[in-house]
Amino acid sequence: MTRLVELEETGPRKLDPSDIDGEKGDVAICQCGLSDSFPFCDGSHRETLDEDEEATYVYDGSDRSIVERVVTRDDRDDE
Ligand code: FES
Repeated sequence: MTRLVELEETGPRKLDPSDIDGEKGDVAICQCGLSDSFPFCDGSHRETLDEDEEATYVYDGSDRSIVERVVTRDDRDDE
């Protein structure tokens, strides 16, 4: 599975001690792109658990749709 996400930030975010989870003592970085607290994981990745391995998804709030596969330059090089 793949996901198309929109990101508006144009630079890095520096972590500070307040970013550490008080209970777990760690920092969880979002890798699914769905977190409302991006770049931190907020558990939204649970929405991806039933995704089809071959599909590409677009999430819009609580709505999810499947789109045609996006071909990247790297994909074309493999063909
Ligand atoms: S990995 Fe994205 S919300 Fe958890």
